[in-house]
Amino acid sequence: METSCQEIIASRVAGLIAAEVASNPSICLGLPTGRTPAKMYAELVKLSRQNNLDWSRVCGFALDEYLDVDETQSFSHYLSVNLYDGVGLPAANRFNPSESGDDYDALIAARGGLDITILGIGLNGHIAFNEPGTPAESWTHSIVLTPSTIDANRELFKGAGRIPTRAVTMGISTILGSRRIILMAFGEKKRSILDQALTGPISPEIPASFLQQHDSLQVFTDFERAQACRLD
Ligand code: GLP
Repeated sequence: METSCQEIIASRVAGLIAAEVASNPSICLGLPTGRTPAKMYAELVKLSRQNNLDWSRVCGFALDEYLDVDETQSFSHYLSVNLYDGVGLPAANRFNPSESGDDYDALIAARGGLDITILGIGLNGHIAFNEPGTPAESWTHSIVLTPSTIDANRELFKGAGRIPTRAVTMGISTILGSRRIILMAFGEKKRSILDQALTGPISPEIPASFLQQHDSLQVFTDFERAQACRLD
């Protein structure tokens, strides 16, 4: 069966991360959740097991976390199930902004800063949960989610008692402080917002546009007119 572009990208990004973990066993990673990185995490767990990678000193920093959410619906749970448990990242090295409050940025700095941060992008141009209007100078903060974001994530809460409306997120400055950023975006519906973010004006109205200012950004998408698989 033909390998889809998303699978090729998932393998490529997983390979990049695995190589970085192998060469820097105490690496600090900024980690997203959602549909986009799921395949990449599965590949990363597989690669890690095949190569017996040592994650005992790796630090995982969740980009964001819902507030008022059931544990099984939390991003902390998502990362444990999709990555941490599979690679054996110790619980003591699993960091989440909802548990560290205002000290999240201090915690990241104390660990030497983020080496690589992986991002998805929301349909309204948000990164992590930095919604439109978030200034570049923002650090970790709590927010009220926009209706667009709540709608986009509604399907993930089918059957759950309630859909969270508040979250806590790394800020734009927190993310831009990462030494390297990998942005992944899949599906035609993300094409327009990604184009605006990467080629349009830099503005808080599209928080992802601040990524244009970063000097080590790689973008992986599967939407190309020729359906070629575009790798960074
Ligand atoms: C949420 C997350 C973001 C993620 C975005 C897109 O808002 N806070 O980190 O990038 O959704 O998610 P998906 O990859 O499922 O489209």
